[in-house]
Amino acid sequence: MAVSFSPDEYRNFQSFLEKACGIVLGENKHYLVSSRLNRLMQEHDIPSLQELVDTLNKRLNSKLRTRVIEAMTTNETLWFRDTYPFQILHQTIFEDYKQQRKNAIRIWSAACSSGQEPYSISMVTDEYARRNPGFKVEITATDISQEILGEAKLAKYDALALARGLSEERKRQYFSPVGDEWQVNANIRSRINFREVNLLQSYISLGKFDAIYCRNVLIYFSAESKSDILNRMADALNPQGFLMLGASESIAQYCDRFEMVRVSVGVVYRLKQI
Ligand SMILES: C[S@@+](CC[C@H](N)C(=O)[O-])C[C@H]1O[C@@H](n2cnc3c(N)ncnc32)[C@H](O)[C@@H]1O
Repeated sequence: MAVSFSPDEYRNFQSFLEKACGIVLGENKHYLVSSRLNRLMQEHDIPSLQELVDTLNKRLNSKLRTRVIEAMTTNETLWFRDTYPFQILHQTIFEDYKQQRKNAIRIWSAACSSGQEPYSISMVTDEYARRNPGFKVEITATDISQEILGEAKLAKYDALALARGLSEERKRQYFSPVGDEWQVNANIRSRINFREVNLLQSYISLGKFDAIYCRNVLIYFSAESKSDILNRMADALNPQGFLMLGASESIAQYCDRFEMVRVSVGVVYRLKQI
């Protein structure tokens, strides 16, 4: 049976979710809440949305809290998503650092989901490093969800997931068959450190980066959270570091510390010089 709830219960759940992970649930997402939480509430014998919110707010059951957040997040991703961010990676970002004679850089894939984004970055690095021997990239990939990070670390994908955005040539080059699935090769995996990070919390322990890919996650957040996150990402970048957002996202009025760099294939942001 589907969970039903009063407007007050829904508002309280909206408020829990925004505080816990930044996601702002629209007014018309009752069906989404009901369909994503129904089974979880049955499993935990929780009869109403209000009781779920009360349990979560008391922080008595951290596993339940994690599972609710995981149920409410969207993990949609694919290889080389939108193409241009990966062209900009080698044509603009890598080339810029090469000209500065900086041969070892750090990239953060924030909200990496099941790994397609950081592995795509690693494949582009491999291709670039073959033409530019000695060029090194270390990638930190983070997400709020332990479950999705577990999948990302395994680096095994079925045929359906593999078909989304990956060329036959790269499949041949960078994957090996394991049972019914395909696993990303060890040399591509070895550049990446996976870590659990909630974007609402501190990034200081991650160190400084030369580029940040933060794509298709800020769209779910309020203007206030976007502004806070973008300003703290600016703090996490080395001077003149790059920031890549999702195709439908922009810095707009949220942060004035970046300038827009337009290249033929698309847009990337760059930390302003002070
Ligand atoms: C739609 S996916 C984007 C994946 C990838 N960046 C891309 O563009 O294909 C959004 C990811 O954001 C993660 N996420 C949601 N809220 C988060 C938060 N507060 N902190 C860190 N990650 C979060 C979700 O778990 C999910 O894996």
